[in-house]
Amino acid sequence: MRLLIMGAPGAGKGTQAALIKDYYKIPHISTGDMFREAISKQTKVGLEAKSYIDKGDLVPDSVTIELVRERLLKDDCKNGFLLDGFPRTIAQAKALDQMLKNLEIKLDAVLNVDIDDRILIERIVGRRTCSKCKESYHMTNKKPKVEGICDLCGGTLIQRVDDTEETIKNRLNVYHLQTEPVMDYYNNQGLVKSVDGFGDIEKIFEKVKNLLGGIDDFN
Ligand code: AP5
Ligand code: MG
Repeated sequence: MRLLIMGAPGAGKGTQAALIKDYYKIPHISTGDMFREAISKQTKVGLEAKSYIDKGDLVPDSVTIELVRERLLKDDCKNGFLLDGFPRTIAQAKALDQMLKNLEIKLDAVLNVDIDDRILIERIVGRRTCSKCKESYHMTNKKPKVEGICDLCGGTLIQRVDDTEETIKNRLNVYHLQTEPVMDYYNNQGLVKSVDGFGDIEKIFEKVKNLLGGIDDFN
């Protein structure tokens, strides 16, 4: 299955992507996660991306497109992938079209996690992420068994640098201005399947599976 997951910051893309990845056995490719890893390793891409991410602005298209181009060529993408947070601009969407054309493959669906802006700020401010395995938690909605510690790997839970209230407002503006048109782009191609992102995480995932179909449909 070749899939995009889209939605505003805090919509639950990463949370649903982790479930989709396990169920459909496809790699979860999050450009945000890739940038954060590059920043922690202080690579050239990381150093370039940091100032944009800290402010909640988009990293320039040229940098982001190259990152995804290289990633999609890896062997684990041969049987499918789930792109999370890419494309975020029309230029990125067009570049992805070209990458897929070169690989002679097509997208199966674009999953839109739909949610009201008012809910997002509370979700993002309360988010905590494992510093080791990147599992996502929430201070009230998805608490770890032991405060500050990841249930899965025992890593320390940290707050993202761009999860401040001020930065979130800019991220939401950027989303409405630059990324919503990408949804229209895929809507015009009949690829978008929307799910309500409000409610119980597992129940949302049940709806996602209903929208996308069974594993056998893609093997
Ligand atoms: P990125 O990492 O992609 O961040 P984002 O799009 O802002 O989205 P988030 O990761 O904040 O939210 P999410 O939808 O994954 O929500 P989550 O599941 O964690 O990008 C970060 C930055 O990198 C960008 O601002 C940009 O600078 C740069 N970047 C990345 N890609 C780029 C690109 N293509 N081009 C240019 N720049 C790029 O959930 C949020 C919280 O809510 C969690 O605590 C979770 O536990 C909780 N939660 C989830 N679901 C539910 C639910 N149903 N009910 C209650 N709580 C829930
Ligand atoms: Mg995410």
